[in-house]
Amino acid sequence: MACVSTTIAFANQKGGVAKTTSVASVGAALIEAGQRVLLVDMDPQGSLTFSLGIDPEDVETSIAEVLLGKAPVTDAIVISDEGLNLVPATIGLAAAEESLVSMTGREQRLRVSLAKVADDYDWILIDCPPALGVLTVGSLSAADEVIVPLQAETLSHRGVGQLLDTIHDVRQFINPDLEIRGVLATMYDGRTAHARAVLAAIEETYGLTVLEPPIPKTIRFAEAPAIGRTILSTAKSHKGAEAYRQIAQVLIASLKPAKKNPAKRKPVKTK
Ligand SMILES: Nc1ncnc2c1ncn2[C@@H]1O[C@H](COP(=O)(O)OP(=O)(O)O)[C@@H](O)[C@H]1O
Ligand SMILES: [Mg+2]
Repeated sequence: MACVSTTIAFANQKGGVAKTTSVASVGAALIEAGQRVLLVDMDPQGSLTFSLGIDPEDVETSIAEVLLGKAPVTDAIVISDEGLNLVPATIGLAAAEESLVSMTGREQRLRVSLAKVADDYDWILIDCPPALGVLTVGSLSAADEVIVPLQAETLSHRGVGQLLDTIHDVRQFINPDLEIRGVLATMYDGRTAHARAVLAAIEETYGLTVLEPPIPKTIRFAEAPAIGRTILSTAKSHKGAEAYRQIAQVLIASLKPAKKNPAKRKPVKTK
């Protein structure tokens, strides 16, 4: 996809693996590094929206209206206290998903909508729901890359095969350029040899890259969303925040030179 921004879907049909936390934290880390970032909440539960301090009740235009073709994506963008640009989700996305199933171009709608703001951002990060339905397929269809957040525990990779099958289908039929950036190990307890072994097994079984560094397990991640912020601002120098900064640097370092220094950068909306 020849546009300025790089779009990454954070996908895993398993819930509670830190998809939402990773989207918010990588997003905040990229902003800190001077990048222009748009986050997209594709989960009807609206956890990303909520965790960034935006009350779904106050949202007038959400991702649902965008997907249904009722509003352009620019109408839906809101700014969090931390300065993150977000396309929010509300519970209305659940109904929209049901309607979408029988609508023309259902899997292309997010891609087509986001293309309109692709030049305004360096990164677009999509928070997928914990399912492999039309919302996740639509997210994968809109993405250049996918990152799979995963908790490094024994049974954590049950389901990875199924996700890879879905990615394979999306590549074959919709988005041939979709790349898997890798697995992001979350809630990682580095003190156990077990966690390391699980990651090695995932690398070997599925041929997936495990991104470095893993994100350490810490209660600080549960605290931040309660006040609508990310760990990047609530516990600035904590090793959890530092790990997400390093992941952001890995992403930035992989940009092609033309993308690293876009000649004309449009300013991002700020409060
Ligand atoms: N590194 C971490 N250490 C400890 N808890 C974490 C970590 N990352 C996320 N969490 C917590 O785990 C729970 C699930 O995370 P979440 O990002 O909502 O997962 P998902 O979006 O995959 O369902 C949340 O309560 C979150 O605060
Ligand atoms: Mg989530």
